[in-house]
Amino acid sequence: MQRFTNPRDIYHGKGALEALKTLEGKRAIICVGGGSMKKFGFLDRAQKYLEEAGMTVTLFEGIEPDPSVDTVMKGAAVMQEFKPDWIVAIGGGSPIDAAKAMWIKYEYPETTFADMCKVFGLPKLRTKAKFCAVSSTSGTATEVTAFSIITDYQKGIKYPIADFQITPDVAIVDPDLAETMPKKLVAHTGMDALTHAVEAYVSTVHSDFTDAPAIHAIEMIQRDLVDSYNGNMKARDNMHSAQCLAGIAFSSGLLGIVHSMAHKTGAVFADLGAHIIHGAANAMYLPKVIAYNAKNPEAKKRYGVIADYMKLGGKDDDEKLANLIAYIRGFNDKLNIPHCIKNYGADSYPTEQGFVPEKIFLERLPEIAKNAILDACTGSNPRQPNQEEMEKLLKCCYYDTEVDF
Ligand SMILES: NC(=O)c1ccc[n+]([C@@H]2O[C@H](COP(=O)([O-])OP(=O)(O)OC[C@H]3O[C@@H](n4cnc5c(N)ncnc54)[C@H](O)[C@@H]3O)[C@@H](O)[C@H]2O)c1
Ligand SMILES: [Zn+2]
Repeated sequence: MQRFTNPRDIYHGKGALEALKTLEGKRAIICVGGGSMKKFGFLDRAQKYLEEAGMTVTLFEGIEPDPSVDTVMKGAAVMQEFKPDWIVAIGGGSPIDAAKAMWIKYEYPETTFADMCKVFGLPKLRTKAKFCAVSSTSGTATEVTAFSIITDYQKGIKYPIADFQITPDVAIVDPDLAETMPKKLVAHTGMDALTHAVEAYVSTVHSDFTDAPAIHAIEMIQRDLVDSYNGNMKARDNMHSAQCLAGIAFSSGLLGIVHSMAHKTGAVFADLGAHIIHGAANAMYLPKVIAYNAKNPEAKKRYGVIADYMKLGGKDDDEKLANLIAYIRGFNDKLNIPHCIKNYGADSYPTEQGFVPEKIFLERLPEIAKNAILDACTGSNPRQPNQEEMEKLLKCCYYDTEVDF
């Protein structure tokens, strides 16, 4: 038996933010990030709509990108005090993910962060509040997924919380919110979405239910991502739906080791002054992982199917695979994303010598590889790498060398 779980309602299309007026309850807390939603007027509108619905509203503002355990605990304390029956998270993946974790702690105050990280081990939520997510970036699709990614800055590690309990009750996918994204965010979140769809399609627990949205998302991303990056707002709007479809695919179809490696390299060099941004990490690692996974015959066939849907040509699966890898690398070039960690600048753009020196990378490699193998996303990858293979793969991602094992 398999399970395919989504929010009860997904409101989508321009103006969907107004669906907040339909929520029924007494008290709503809006969880939001550092200012973009306020600056562009979406926060005020959200508050107004909830008040129109007859609710008393409070705000929890300032959730940082790649949210920390500390922020989660602070937000949960505010919720304990205010006692909302609706948690409305608005913004990118960061505020929505943080709000999901706050929700767990609010419902079960004795829960520790370690408890939350037990995969598919959460107690029943919704005893105190329901959850509505309004996404403003076109990538994580956390508005429809069973995941939340929280960073433990003491360890420099991102931990996925995974359980259908935290799938939101209501998702609002209003493209108006995505139109204000700066180019770099469009590039990174768009490649995150592509990675979600590709990993879900070849995952060991994929199903007909997850294949359908995954393939459609891939076709839409192929058509719209570069145009969206270059300022075409129709394409930007389409990308907002495409990333959500990719989310529907991976929330039940799960992911693979591109994400395991992105989670474990994202914050591990933070002491050097930068993060490897999630979507950029995925964009660099995806072609390498495709080459590695394709040693599994079933995965190779499925990558060939993706290449066919993308109309990339190729007379056999080897050619299709090569075309798919080349096409994805072409995306990186068009979106100004490097091909490897060595060339990843502190500003995320390609540069001769990036912010992670070779020596430090090699010193930390065994630990990173160990943690990546343990990541919750590794289990559904078509091949299970051992320590040696994971280290080799990560080296290919550092130097941009060929994967031949
Ligand atoms: N839960 C999941 O399933 C899942 C999946 C993938 C990634 N993630 C996590 O999500 C986080 C990344 O989320 P993200 O990529 O959405 O970015 P983000 O939420 O971290 O936001 C990045 C920056 O963009 C700004 N921003 C957001 N929306 C904007 C808009 N419409 N206009 C202008 N500026 C805007 C924010 O203020 C912030 O400064 C990471 O922590 C990642 O690990 C979660
Ligand atoms: Zn992702």
